Amino acid sequence: MSNISIIGAGNMAGTIGARAVAGGNTVEVMGRDQSKADALAKTLGGRTTTGEWGTAPAGDIVILALLYDVSCRSLPSTETLSRARLLSTSAIPSIPRSTG
Ligand SMILES: NC(=O)c1ccc[n+]([C@@H]2O[C@H](COP(=O)([O-])OP(=O)(O)OC[C@H]3O[C@@H](n4cnc5c(N)ncnc54)[C@H](OP(=O)(O)O)[C@@H]3O)[C@@H](O)[C@H]2O)c1
Repeated sequence: MSNISIIGAGNMAGTIGARAVAGGNTVEVMGRDQSKADALAKTLGGRTTTGEWGTAPAGDIVILALLYDVSCRSLPSTETLSRARLLSTSAIPSIPRSTG
């Protein structure tokens, strides 16, 4: 069992969070909109908590579930992640759709 922090409260945060809770892990959700983070934590259930946006994530594993460019700007500081494993759901930058 692990302590997992998920930064973001959207689709990927919900999907990964549900799997993490089902696997018996402790989950913390952090979102810029506290009400969305609270709502997701309630939906996930188990021992899910919410963390305050911008503070150090509590998890040993930290999952960034944000858009690529946002993830780059929202990376927790090196000090707060010195003992954590960082994973990101963003594989490629957002590419604007062609208007042609
Ligand atoms: N959905 C999929 O099936 C899927 C699959 C593979 C990879 N991905 C990748 O995973 C990442 C997340 O996808 P998603 O579907 O979870 O997206 P999403 O549902 O739109 O959630 C995005 C999250 O990012 C937050 N956010 C947006 N702009 C922000 C900003 N400027 N500062 C701080 N937080 C911000 C949103 O907060 P608010 O709600 O407050 O706006 C929300 O919590 C994307 O890079 C996507 O390409 C998604």
